[in-house]
Amino acid sequence: MPYENLLVEASESIALVTINRPKVLNALSAKTLEELEACFREFQHDPNVRVVILTGAGDRAFVAGADINEFADYSPLQAREFSLRGQAFFHKVENLGKPTIAAIHGFALGGGCELALSCSIRIATQSARLGLPEVKLGIIPGYGGTQRLPRLIGKGMALQMILSGEPISAEEALRWGLVNQVVPPEQLLPAAKDLAKKIIANAPLAVQYCLEAIHQGLNVSLEQGLLLESALFGMAFATEDMREGIKSFLGKRSPQFTGR
Ligand code: COA
Repeated sequence: MPYENLLVEASESIALVTINRPKVLNALSAKTLEELEACFREFQHDPNVRVVILTGAGDRAFVAGADINEFADYSPLQAREFSLRGQAFFHKVENLGKPTIAAIHGFALGGGCELALSCSIRIATQSARLGLPEVKLGIIPGYGGTQRLPRLIGKGMALQMILSGEPISAEEALRWGLVNQVVPPEQLLPAAKDLAKKIIANAPLAVQYCLEAIHQGLNVSLEQGLLLESALFGMAFATEDMREGIKSFLGKRSPQFTGR
């Protein structure tokens, strides 16, 4: 399906989504968000998509935030709706049941940083600048930044980033665990694809259960999280892939997983 603001390519079970509004540093307009929602709806039910990589067009930005032109005149109620809608989509990204990788070059600010935060893994180039600059506009992060950032990097550094509004470099982001890897620009997509292929070689349901255990588990007590882990561990034993995984290991051959 052709999109106005997205480029979508799929090969080798990897969907590559490029947010394509380079003139405005790939700012997330309502239309772009709508297209992302449609695209992720398709991915969720497409067994041929095992990993989604998100990136931005051009060489200046991943995404420089929500489109400021669109929300400048919002009433408080419209602003709340805007926030709820973005949050709902980012929740879907996080709970897609398939890993998502943000491939970040240049600016990942505001909604762009929040989009990256909702992905499973973040890979950046040295040029990346990540930040939540909303306070500079007199507003606050509204797409999950105040919640996901402290959960990922801890309260202290999250407070520093959110209260100062100052972006941090790729190296700082790596030190704080905001990004997983920093690579040269020409390695950005190859590194994301290499990682995607390693994930794809594993049993799809096991990968899905790991995502679920981590995402759901982080939001409940340790006891509840451990119970969830045991339940999902048990579920893995109901899969054909579990039998194939064990059999292939014992038979000293590569597993042929089917996702069942
Ligand atoms: N929404 C709408 N348009 C945006 C945008 C956003 N979030 N971010 C950048 N743009 C547009 C600029 O308005 C400019 O458009 P123009 O050429 O029609 O004037 C174009 O993208 C290029 O940006 P520009 O500001 O000229 O580039 P720069 O190198 O001087 O600065 C940034 C880059 C990222 C520092 C700056 O664009 C910026 O601060 N953007 C807003 C970031 C932000 O606050 N995001 C959170 C929003 S809630």
